[in-house]
Amino acid sequence: MKTNIPRIIAVASGKGGVGKTNFVTNISLVFRSLQKRVLLMDADIGLSNIDIMFGIAPKYNIKHVLAGEKGIKDIIVSTNEGIDIIPASSGIRELTQLSFNNKMRIVEELDSLDPDYDLFLIDTGAGISENVTFFCSAAHDNIIIVTSEPTSIADAYALIKVIYKEHGEQNFRIVVNNVRSQVEGRNTFKKLSMVAERFLGINLDLLGFLPYDEKIKEAVIAQKPYINLYPTSDFSKRLNDIARNLLKKEVNLLKGGMQFFLKKAMAQ
Ligand SMILES: Nc1ncnc2c1ncn2[C@@H]1O[C@H](COP(=O)(O)OP(=O)(O)O)[C@@H](O)[C@H]1O
Ligand SMILES: [Mg+2]
Repeated sequence: MKTNIPRIIAVASGKGGVGKTNFVTNISLVFRSLQKRVLLMDADIGLSNIDIMFGIAPKYNIKHVLAGEKGIKDIIVSTNEGIDIIPASSGIRELTQLSFNNKMRIVEELDSLDPDYDLFLIDTGAGISENVTFFCSAAHDNIIIVTSEPTSIADAYALIKVIYKEHGEQNFRIVVNNVRSQVEGRNTFKKLSMVAERFLGINLDLLGFLPYDEKIKEAVIAQKPYINLYPTSDFSKRLNDIARNLLKKEVNLLKGGMQFFLKKAMAQ
């Protein structure tokens, strides 16, 4: 019996470019400041960029694990901030559609890391790919990032629908990003939650709103995590609230997680 089961948090979105990587990178630093041991997995395997956000250049990545050349511990990079990262590899087409065996390999490797971490954060790719729904189905928390653009709302709904229909997942936590007012945030959440309730019969959980802040792009260009540069900004305060809010929500760690997922996959 395991003594430590990390909480797995998958971050996804329907449409790309809505702020997933920025969210995952910065919230991992908030969790670290709350004394959590964080492992961040870049699962946007076709288009990875967490390394860029931290200004690191990993030598090895998940591709080397799948090729059997490295174990998962060999590819993990620790940032100066104390975050451990599993890097992805960019632009490798065959990795955008992982085979069943490759997914199982990743799950087994991740499972071996359980004792070392409190939280696993997974930055998934955009859209409804097999990889995305796979990682979401193994997570304890599914966070969906959405913006007020109608295409983002429609694509977020489509993603929720697929994960719900394919995996029976009903718990989705919503973050509305790039908002210019509280009203914009509330209206966006309302639109998304109304369709989810009406057509799928599920209630979405609002985690919070994050304001549009042009300094975020500057931080990306400087390759320094935004929250370290602007710890007292409105964005940073709200991100802190979202992190605390999430940790307060109870999840059943035995339901979900890598072990649970392996059992489920084997039973199929
Ligand atoms: N709240 C925000 N305010 C301003 N710019 C943002 C915000 N969130 C993200 N961005 C910017 O939007 C772009 C896309 O963000 P990114 O995190 O890479 O999205 P994704 O991972 O969903 O594709 C980046 O240039 C990022 O700096
Ligand atoms: Mg991204």
